[in-house]
Amino acid sequence: MSNKVANRRIVLAERPRYIIPTANVFRMTEATMPEARAGQVLIRTTWLGVDSYLYSRLQRDSQFAVPVNIGDVMVGATVGRVEVSNHPDYKAGDIVHGFWGWQDYTVSDGSDIEKVDPEIPRATYMLGALGIPGLGAYAVINELVRVQAGETLAVGNALGGIGQIVSQLAKLKGARVLAAASTTEKCRYAKEHWGVDVCIDRSAKDFLPNAQTEFAKAGVDCYVMLAGGRVLDMALPYFRANARIAVCGMMSTYGLSSLPPGGDRTVLLMTEIMRRRLQIRGLVSTDYVGTPLAAQFRKEMKEYILSGKIKPLEHIVKGLEQAPETMQGLFEGRNFGKAVIHVAD
Ligand SMILES: NC(=O)c1ccc[n+]([C@@H]2O[C@H](COP(=O)([O-])OP(=O)(O)OC[C@H]3O[C@@H](n4cnc5c(N)ncnc54)[C@H](OP(=O)(O)O)[C@@H]3O)[C@@H](O)[C@H]2O)c1
Repeated sequence: MSNKVANRRIVLAERPRYIIPTANVFRMTEATMPEARAGQVLIRTTWLGVDSYLYSRLQRDSQFAVPVNIGDVMVGATVGRVEVSNHPDYKAGDIVHGFWGWQDYTVSDGSDIEKVDPEIPRATYMLGALGIPGLGAYAVINELVRVQAGETLAVGNALGGIGQIVSQLAKLKGARVLAAASTTEKCRYAKEHWGVDVCIDRSAKDFLPNAQTEFAKAGVDCYVMLAGGRVLDMALPYFRANARIAVCGMMSTYGLSSLPPGGDRTVLLMTEIMRRRLQIRGLVSTDYVGTPLAAQFRKEMKEYILSGKIKPLEHIVKGLEQAPETMQGLFEGRNFGKAVIHVAD
């Protein structure tokens, strides 16, 4: 390679074999630095978001999005700094947000990037609280489950990208929040920092009786499904009539190669839907991009963050090369907050 600066890129080396996308499915490669032509900008990646929902992009057949091809750069939300501008709307030094993926540099004609609002305390919030996870959470609360003051909302993955914003928005609506997470420390954080009323530690020995007691106390009016699995099983008998369920993801099943012990619970779920007139709605956060709801979300979420009503939590990891391992960590619950990679200053 010449003495020119190389563009490090993390590409998809192979499709996940074990359902959980291990770090081995990615490979670091180097390419020549891209050059900004007329009408283009050259961007230095400073931050990238690592999201479990991108798992579907690694699969050969995704029902949600176009799969990443083998050898292509891994996709993902990004923040970067304009280094060279040949575009009238951008100047060197502008901080921009886009979806150019796991690489040091990219070029853009401006159509797939936007400037980061300088009033936002941290540009990384565009990857979490003010990005797709935050938008999904906002849609869940305001469109899908429409939680009301005094109701009980249950949500798993309390510290994840969606879970942390769902919990905090539900508290702002005056709801009682019953969350779950994989460690005592995560549960403590959610209660102390966001006012989550109850957090069930999935790793605790007495998880089952604890969960049963907590769900039985108040019943469940809204359930935000991020993980499914044992927490959902425990909640199922305690859904109130007309409860609303938002199906956002199933973290607990991504690592399975066969049905969990006890078999398929779909019949049970369907019976409960009928018996208690439950409403279940699915979420695809990107459906809301560019809609009036997204505009309202940006405005409201920015105000919440600036006023301290929403306190985003980030799990910061240093170095582009750490992105694959960090992604694997999401599926093992190693992230303590929304995972973001610090690529460069
Ligand atoms: N539909 C959409 O538009 C959309 C958008 C974004 C995300 N999602 C989905 O929402 C879910 C959460 O994503 P996120 O971005 O908020 O989380 P995240 O920040 O990616 O964190 C993932 C969390 O999942 C939990 N987890 C890992 N393995 C698990 C297992 N076997 N059982 C239960 N929990 C497990 C871990 O937390 P703990 O183990 O500590 O709980 C981990 O921290 C995922 O299913 C994702 O695909 C959907």
